[in-house]
Amino acid sequence: MTAVGIDAIEIWTGKLALDLAETFAPAKDDNPEKYTKGLGLRASSFPDTYEDIVTMGANAAKRLMDRKGLEPDDIGRIDVATESAFDNSKPVSTYIAGCLEDVYDGDFHHANKGERKFACVAGTQSIDDAYNWIKAGRNRGRAALVIATDTALYARGDPGEATQGAGAVAMLVDEDPNVVELSTHQGYGSADETDFLKPNQQFPSVDGKRSVQVYLARMREALEDFESVAGRTHPDDYAYIPFHTPFPGMVRKAALLGFRHMTRDTEVEDGLADEIGRQPRETDFEDWDAYEGAIREYMDALKETDTYDTWYARAIDPTLTLSRQVGNWYTGSVHVARASALKTAAETGRALSGEKLLLGSYGSGAQAEIHSETVAEGWREEVEALDIDEQLSRRYDLSFEEYGRVHDAHNHEKERELEEFTVPGGEFVFTGWGRMNERT
Ligand code: CAA
Repeated sequence: MTAVGIDAIEIWTGKLALDLAETFAPAKDDNPEKYTKGLGLRASSFPDTYEDIVTMGANAAKRLMDRKGLEPDDIGRIDVATESAFDNSKPVSTYIAGCLEDVYDGDFHHANKGERKFACVAGTQSIDDAYNWIKAGRNRGRAALVIATDTALYARGDPGEATQGAGAVAMLVDEDPNVVELSTHQGYGSADETDFLKPNQQFPSVDGKRSVQVYLARMREALEDFESVAGRTHPDDYAYIPFHTPFPGMVRKAALLGFRHMTRDTEVEDGLADEIGRQPRETDFEDWDAYEGAIREYMDALKETDTYDTWYARAIDPTLTLSRQVGNWYTGSVHVARASALKTAAETGRALSGEKLLLGSYGSGAQAEIHSETVAEGWREEVEALDIDEQLSRRYDLSFEEYGRVHDAHNHEKERELEEFTVPGGEFVFTGWGRMNERT
């Protein structure tokens, strides 16, 4: 069976940065540690006024195609995952293909294009679609370009304002992949939920506290469903577990829940029994509330143990390095988390080929997907080619007052003349609604 998976990744960050500790917290009269420790975020990426989901996606895709020496004829499918689309009919992939056709000799006339929507999980769903298309033998030797691109902006004053972000991740899905091989092991947790909605509106209506609970409930269901396919999971089976990361504090909660679930009835639970007792069993309790209370108590004790701490530092913390600096990228977020883990492994000289990753993707509305991947032979070279550190260090640091103007500019005010904070060079830029983006 031919291996199919992610062959290459490129990341494009919005070119502006809002420092949460030094700029946002003082302006809100908040303790900076609410953001740095509580949410676990240092800064958010923002798009400059000449950037949008099309330019960021096209710029990431162009870098990927150039680095891999690809022409449009090599691509049989372009799927864009986004929850920031501005057109209810024409998919963002057509706008991006148009940009790319301006700079390559060939065209994408025989490529299938689409737009995937299910909040943040749509990026992973697009990868799944590309995998299925190749496995079905419908790709005619061509690869799929998957682009996850979002401007994750909340209304001013919304609690979500601290978790904003903007950027794009372009991924090439192909046979004999260099980065990760996908597996058929997947699990879903899905339910009709209304904690995060954008019905024909620019900024989401969010019940933030409930959204955290919904994330955890769907992720637990997805893990159980995954185990029904793949068998019992053990935390040591996976080198890294990248989760959808709206903010690292969310992942802290998901990781603890996952660790408890994975270690029940294992030697890890036995080893911890003297220190924190055994995991509560539902059958030991007369009512659900008492059982839940006991679980909470167990988890509070678990997170203080060296066993948990060591596992978290190895398998989870390295997935959060980029997210801390860029905030939530919605559809791109879990793919940034994977890149972050692989980048850490490359930087620390860790051997990873053949090791497994467990990905926890999530989209509000709500659906979680857990799937496993195997790291491929060529991962190190691909990850070392990323220039995300340079991009991050080149970002323009916004003052709070400038942040307000940029936020307004992205609130559908793009038709008027807008100030720019950085100078574009050799990239696609926004030139107006409905008009083709041009390369400077
Ligand atoms: N020092 C250390 N920690 C502090 C602190 C301080 N001085 N002050 C507060 N904190 C901690 C709090 O205890 C809390 O941690 P815990 O949750 O572990 O208790 C954390 O910082 C955040 O503080 P608050 O809960 O008071 O923050 P908030 O209510 O202002 O906002 C939020 C939190 C509701 C999640 C908000 O950021 C939000 O609405 N975000 C958008 C929605 C979201 O991201 N939801 C996540 C799940 S849905 C999803 O994942 C899809 C998606 O991409 C949107």
